[in-house]
Amino acid sequence: MCGIVGYVGHRQAAEVILDGLKRLEYRGYDSAGLVISDSERVLNVMKRAGKLKVLSDAFRTQPLTGTLGLGHTRWATHGKPNDINAHPHLSEDGKLAVIHNGIIENYLPLRARLSAEGHTFASETDTEVLVHLIEAHYQGDLVAAVQAALREVHGAYAIVVSHADHELIVAARATSPLVIGLGQGENFVASDVPALLPYTREVIFLRDGDMALLAKDGVTVTDFGGVVLRRDSAIIDWDAEAAEKGGYPHYMLKEIFEQPVVLQNTLGGRLAANGTDVTLELSLDPASFNRVVITAAGTAYYSGLVGEYLIEKLARLPVEVEVASEFRYREPVIDSRTLVVVVSQSGETIDTLEALREAKRQGAHTLAILNAKGSSISREADDVLYIHAGPEIGVASTKAYMAMLAAFELLAIWLGRARGTLSAALAAELIAELRHTPALVEAALKAREQVAAIAEAFKGKSDYLFLGRGVNFPTALEGALKLKEISYIHAEAYATGEMKHGPIALIDDDMPVVAIATASALYDKTVSNIQEVRARDGIVIALASEGDEAIKAHADYVITAPRTMELISPMVNVVPLQLLAYETAARLGLDVDQPRNLAKSVTVE
Ligand code: M6R
Repeated sequence: MCGIVGYVGHRQAAEVILDGLKRLEYRGYDSAGLVISDSERVLNVMKRAGKLKVLSDAFRTQPLTGTLGLGHTRWATHGKPNDINAHPHLSEDGKLAVIHNGIIENYLPLRARLSAEGHTFASETDTEVLVHLIEAHYQGDLVAAVQAALREVHGAYAIVVSHADHELIVAARATSPLVIGLGQGENFVASDVPALLPYTREVIFLRDGDMALLAKDGVTVTDFGGVVLRRDSAIIDWDAEAAEKGGYPHYMLKEIFEQPVVLQNTLGGRLAANGTDVTLELSLDPASFNRVVITAAGTAYYSGLVGEYLIEKLARLPVEVEVASEFRYREPVIDSRTLVVVVSQSGETIDTLEALREAKRQGAHTLAILNAKGSSISREADDVLYIHAGPEIGVASTKAYMAMLAAFELLAIWLGRARGTLSAALAAELIAELRHTPALVEAALKAREQVAAIAEAFKGKSDYLFLGRGVNFPTALEGALKLKEISYIHAEAYATGEMKHGPIALIDDDMPVVAIATASALYDKTVSNIQEVRARDGIVIALASEGDEAIKAHADYVITAPRTMELISPMVNVVPLQLLAYETAARLGLDVDQPRNLAKSVTVE
């Protein structure tokens, strides 16, 4: 949460910062600000509540020049999103600027002490205590002052600091991500890679407890005590264009349409030539554990629910799935015979990261299913299975979910084959169908027109119900989450068979019910449940397999999905539901890529 960009070099810093913030705006977008050190070594600040565009527009009318600067997009934790609470925060003499992502947990006692010592606070933020604390310790050495201040704070944070008297940026990381970009006669710091891609591919991912001192001619990484650390750089192979909209009106739509290619990348090289096995470069020994626990947040959690179904079915291992924010606090019963799988697009979600740490403390072997390379989770997990979805910018996750599902398919087949619970014949059938998934998802995208008509008809509704069962119950959950997130329409999901135990009371002739009724072992039971909805005048939107003519008699609207194996169907069925959310939000004129109150990676608890 919150986007940070810092620059020191030969270019106009504000241009680099505003461009970088634009690429990071998915991290937070309730206010934005920047500070530029000019040729007279004066810090000039501009901050605005609202989207980055408000700041950019203000900047165009009153540009700030200088070759060193810091910028920030905020996702408010402490204090309303207004101009004053926006970052950067400056010392009273205007010479010291601080930008911060995360939470300073002991800010209240620090604020009380500093106020008593005569410091005057301008904002309601936790961040501002850092400014006063660094200022209190500053005696000409900026690095020493930052170190001394950080010894007094605790929490999860990333900060960048500059001072008018130094051509230097000091960055420090305690849990919240920071990445350094290395250039020629210029250097960059940002909270995520997309901000750096137009300028450099050579990066250093800072680790917890790292400080970086950025000058235009070099970067030094130390610990918080000043001991120099060796940190190797990595080369990022992401395509800068992949992080652009590429002609689509929104990133989310682009990312939905990228899913066939994403599947090729996730599956690529992992389906063995013999047709009955998958190849995963994992160190874990499938014979060494007797249980699997999957933990994650949001959409990644729903992919874990599909994973549960697949692993239990194909590898015959008991699986539990839990949201990471609960898992870490309830003393989970796990040991060295438990495989703990964490799932995350960003690799920075604090709940998931802490759940991973808890699992490691309990002695479990940990496997991360991840998109972002170099992320905190990637460094701490025992094994990583990358999903190769590429940069996902839309706050509502789509292509990463698709790639997570593909990763769970691979993992379940791999475990099943290794444990002897999955026959070569079924493995061959699944693998052949997996090879076909890019084409299936491509075909599923063709439902856009059908979906658009439904979105148009129901865009004014305030509630939706989603029903799915078996491996597609998580698909219903994900469909409801997508609609909630971007259209602000209340949507609930239930296991279809559970509807009669309560939610059926909600059915009337006003609320659309999206029922997943694609080919499955429980198709007939699903149709019976749909009839129960219709018998109560409910509006049924059925998602049915191609060629299912019979469903028309039971539904007001039918969305057609390509026919596939039930175990593969979540990958196909989620596509029309993503499109339904998109088409609804777009029709309502809402901000699809940056829905209110959300942020792309949630790095606070
Ligand atoms: O980066 P992660 O996959 O760990 O993020 C987890 C959730 O915060 C994320 O999936 C969130 O629910 C999305 N907004 C869903 O669209």
